Amino acid sequence: MKIVVDLDICQRHARCCLSVPEVFELDEAGLLTYHATVDDELRDAVEEAVDGCPTQAIRILD
Ligand code: F3S
Repeated sequence: MKIVVDLDICQRHARCCLSVPEVFELDEAGLLTYHATVDDELRDAVEEAVDGCPTQAIRILD
């Protein structure tokens, strides 16, 4: 599946990094990096990250 994070909206709350560290990570500069293509077996975890993001910056595209 594909995901996208709107980095203009992301305020680096890092909840997604705690929910799915395989996909989301804050780099040394404190900016969010992520994998845009995610294994389907992580879908439930990514959906949790979508729901848990305070700024609703994460979207699942397919
Ligand atoms: Fe950003 Fe939301 Fe994650 S604000 S760091 S995408 S929890």
